[in-house]
Amino acid sequence: MTHFAYHLALKLGNAFADLGLSPDLGAVVRAQKAEFGDFQCNGAMAGAKQAGKNPREVAMSVAARLAHDRDIARVEVAGPGFLNITLSDAALVSQAAAIAQDPRAGAGVVEVPRRVIVDYAGPNVAKSMHVGHLRATIIGDSIKRLYRFRGDQVWGDAHFGDWGFQMGLLIATLAQEMPDLPYFDADFAGPYPDVSPVQLADLERIYPAAAALAKTDVEARDRARKATAELQAGRPGYRALWQHFVAVSRGALEREFAALGVTFDLWLGESDADPLIPDMIKDLEAKGLLQDDQGARVVFVHDKLVPKKDGGEGPNVAPLLVVSSEGSAMYGTTDLATIVDRVKRFQTDLIIYCVDQRQADHFETVFRAADKAGYMPREGLDHIGFGTMNGQDGKPFKTREGGVLKLHDLITQVQEKAQAKIDEAGVGTDWPDEERADIAHKVGIAALKFADLQNFRGTSYIFDLDRFLSFEGKTGPYLLYAAVRIKSILRKADEAGFAAGPVVKLEGAERDLILVLDGFEHALRGAYDKRAPHILADHAYSLAGAFSAFYAACPIMTAAETDVRASRLTLAKATLTQLLIALDLLGIEAPERM
Ligand code: ARG
Repeated sequence: MTHFAYHLALKLGNAFADLGLSPDLGAVVRAQKAEFGDFQCNGAMAGAKQAGKNPREVAMSVAARLAHDRDIARVEVAGPGFLNITLSDAALVSQAAAIAQDPRAGAGVVEVPRRVIVDYAGPNVAKSMHVGHLRATIIGDSIKRLYRFRGDQVWGDAHFGDWGFQMGLLIATLAQEMPDLPYFDADFAGPYPDVSPVQLADLERIYPAAAALAKTDVEARDRARKATAELQAGRPGYRALWQHFVAVSRGALEREFAALGVTFDLWLGESDADPLIPDMIKDLEAKGLLQDDQGARVVFVHDKLVPKKDGGEGPNVAPLLVVSSEGSAMYGTTDLATIVDRVKRFQTDLIIYCVDQRQADHFETVFRAADKAGYMPREGLDHIGFGTMNGQDGKPFKTREGGVLKLHDLITQVQEKAQAKIDEAGVGTDWPDEERADIAHKVGIAALKFADLQNFRGTSYIFDLDRFLSFEGKTGPYLLYAAVRIKSILRKADEAGFAAGPVVKLEGAERDLILVLDGFEHALRGAYDKRAPHILADHAYSLAGAFSAFYAACPIMTAAETDVRASRLTLAKATLTQLLIALDLLGIEAPERM
């Protein structure tokens, strides 16, 4: 299916080419006001400048070449040389029919599908998720859905933080708290117990205390280092204990992700990359890329030297620390080895990392090292960072007590508030409690996700639950309401035995709705290319608005003529299909009624 913006750009481009000008000048945008037609092209001004001609004359010549096009009702030249194009009703009607018949509601697929890994959420063992993980999860999940929908083969990977010094800290601390456990007895012949000696709450208590202690207490730090090294070397008791940490944490994390409607295709951990590290180091060595730097081994990835604050010159990008001066592999080592693993196992063309903007330098270093070592080209690696969710004070969101809000508590809070709103609005007071709770859950999650995804990911936004949950304005609940309203119209039509039929005769609001429906593909391409779900969020909002205006101006159930009613039902159906797809790509699910 072609779409108006592309179709027109092609036709106008040909007309410009006929005049000896660049076909790129044919690009069009949706007109801002009805009096400017449906689409606008500004190419005549730039083209005239290049050719040293009068812009109005260029515009007139282009317009003349489109005068007999069946899809175009009118081309007008305005002001200094704007081309205002109005499509014919016939073109709109046939496009509406095509979109209505398409289960993808007009959405295309990429020409050349790629193999893509989206690395997102990045949860860690022993740490329950907090609001900081919310954006990485919501944005990453939407990117994953979008890429898959466009036809790529996509794996979402949680890249579980299950390795390194933190694990040693937990083991060493437990060894002191519960020394009698078999995991610490080097002579124990196994098998180790199936049941974990600790639960997530224990790990959450132990971890921050142990981390704080290790900062000041040299002996505690040494014990943790030794435990880390022994775990990594494969000491059976430590491995068995660590398995419990991983399982207990993962279970709890998966429950939280499920509440958000997020699942992963892969739960590979940092530990999975660990076995690849020795060979990778040998390879880096063989390629002459590993260099000694004050006892550590690094890969230099800078492209120039810049003056340093303390005098002298230094690399403009930090080197990748591969082996620390104490001989251990680092966060970046794991990330590099993970790239090697992903290329080998999944033949990835593209890896998208949806991680906090503060890790931008880390990824730049890792990506350059991967490129330099020939593991994966720099263009195939992309870190998409994001701003923070802030409190009313403009600083990263904190609880009233000044602590970090746990994701679980946030979700509960949103859900409770959504329930209160729904009760207040008197929604389904006689419906089953279970259904009402499900609606509250969906409204709450929609509020949270849409509030996040409607902003360009690079910008920070302010947490304001009342606004997020409002049924009016650019919010998740408003969009759910729009979808549910269409569902209810279609249900009633069905009950009355009214069938949908061919699109006929167009009123202004119907034209507008069709033009928005046609713009879906353009929004999808933009969101995909820029890795920016807010473009899709904008589209969903415009679509809901266009439907609302259409429904107000063009009655469906009470339409006087049967064919008009049937036509409007078709438009309503197409709108619902497209809106549900758009919401799904944002990770939002609509209830049947509310
Ligand atoms: N677990 C990490 C953290 O909490 C995030 C992981 C991001 N992904 C990656 N491949 N490094 O900071």
